Amino acid sequence: MKKKTETPVFLRGRKTILRPLSESDLPLCQKWINDPEVRVFIKNIFPMTMGAEREWLESRSKKNDKDIILIIEVKGRPIGSMGIHGIDWKDRTATTGALIGEKQYWGKGYGTDAKMALLDYAFNTLNLRKIMSRVIAFNARSLAYSLHCGYKVEGRLRRQHFVGGRYWDEIILGLFRSDWLKCWEKWRKG
Ligand SMILES: CC(C)(COP(=O)(O)OP(=O)(O)OC[C@H]1O[C@@H](n2cnc3c(N)ncnc32)[C@H](O)[C@@H]1OP(=O)(O)O)[C@@H](O)C(=O)NCCC(=O)NCCS
Repeated sequence: MKKKTETPVFLRGRKTILRPLSESDLPLCQKWINDPEVRVFIKNIFPMTMGAEREWLESRSKKNDKDIILIIEVKGRPIGSMGIHGIDWKDRTATTGALIGEKQYWGKGYGTDAKMALLDYAFNTLNLRKIMSRVIAFNARSLAYSLHCGYKVEGRLRRQHFVGGRYWDEIILGLFRSDWLKCWEKWRKG
């Protein structure tokens, strides 16, 4: 019988693990990013083909010290992805992004859990100083979970994105280690 290979865990939250992306994740990633109820939040307006997914994976797999992408798993089930993008090693800044594609897992604390583990890595391993995030104003869930993790609203780009027939503001969030640490201490005590 073929032995099941063990999951390569990169980060551990309390309810989630984050692991490297692999070729076998591509069909799921393609499903998530094409889903109208998911892509509306991430501004993906074109159909994502398998070829485009593969190119994306290849670009992520090449030596790249600016972007990190991880798959979120709950009890062995991949539910989405989360990443750190555009790392600037001089200013020590980056932007985080997340996509839980399995919609039944929304609003159950998995995003916050995975984001806390990712921020621990960003601040305490990569020694980043400030983490940004961008949210379209109608995405109340994403805004709520970012605020939970300590992000503060730094600004608003007015009528920035055309979605569903109208323009929406984009909210710019920023997080310093000191603000995150307060949330981290509270979160760790559970
Ligand atoms: C954004 C996302 C990563 C958040 O992860 P999550 O696991 O759903 O979030 P959590 O459950 O940890 O936290 C969500 C918070 O929003 C609240 N919430 C849930 N649904 C909500 C809604 N419809 N409106 C407002 N708040 C909502 C929850 O109550 C929770 O806050 P609480 O802990 O105070 O109760 C995930 O929902 C997702 O991937 N959504 C689709 C893609 C997306 O929006 N990506 C981010 C683009 S910026």
